[in-house]
Amino acid sequence: MKIIMLGAPGAGKGTQAKMLADKFGIPHISTGDIFRMNIKEGTELGKKAKAYMDAGGLVPDELTVDLVLDRISKDDCVKGYILDGFPRTLNQAEKLTEALAESGNIDFAVNVDVPDDAIVVRMSGRRVCPSCGASYHIVNIPTKVEGICDRCGSEVIQRADDSAETVQKRLAVYHEQTQPLIDYYKGLGLEVEIDGTQEMEKVFQDIVERLEA
Ligand code: AP5
Ligand code: MG
Ligand code: ZN
Repeated sequence: MKIIMLGAPGAGKGTQAKMLADKFGIPHISTGDIFRMNIKEGTELGKKAKAYMDAGGLVPDELTVDLVLDRISKDDCVKGYILDGFPRTLNQAEKLTEALAESGNIDFAVNVDVPDDAIVVRMSGRRVCPSCGASYHIVNIPTKVEGICDRCGSEVIQRADDSAETVQKRLAVYHEQTQPLIDYYKGLGLEVEIDGTQEMEKVFQDIVERLEA
């Protein structure tokens, strides 16, 4: 099963993608996580991506498309994958459709819908684990021990691009460049709309129901 996660920054794409990856036994591929890993390791790609990300803008398609197309050609992707944060521009979506012309396009574009005001609350409370990637929220999804990752025991941190000002910029970029993809995938009959304002477990249940229908 090939799934893409659509939705605003902070809508819960990563949270749901991880749960879906566990359930279906397919890899979770997050372009944001790949870029952050490259920044941490100080690679050339990381150096280039950092400025765009810190400013809340998008990393240019030239640095993004080939990276994803290469990743989904790996052996662990033969049974499918979950793309989280890609595609994010119409050009990226078209390149993906083109690349999948022979093997078959994605099966579902899951649109996790959350209004902007709720997004701002989520991002300001988000804490992430720099070691294992787990995501928490200081009020909604707290760690069992304050500041410590439940899964691996590392200290959780706030993401560099979660400052109030950068969140506003990321939302603006989302509405301008990524939201049009909803219509693109509706046109292909692949869009699945999910109410992302519900509890995490309920959102997951709704997604699974639609994918297995
Ligand atoms: P990326 O890492 O993809 O960030 P994003 O899209 O802005 O989304 P987030 O990861 O912030 O949110 P999410 O939807 O995963 O939500 P989460 O599950 O964490 O991209 C970062 C940057 O990289 C971009 O700005 C861009 O510069 C660059 N980039 C990446 N891909 C690119 C591409 N294809 N092209 C160009 N540039 C690219 O949840 C958020 C919070 O809410 C958490 O605290 C969580 O615990 C909580 N939460 C989750 N679900 C619920 C729920 N149901 N109820 C209550 N709280 C919840
Ligand atoms: Mg994410
Ligand atoms: Zn961890």
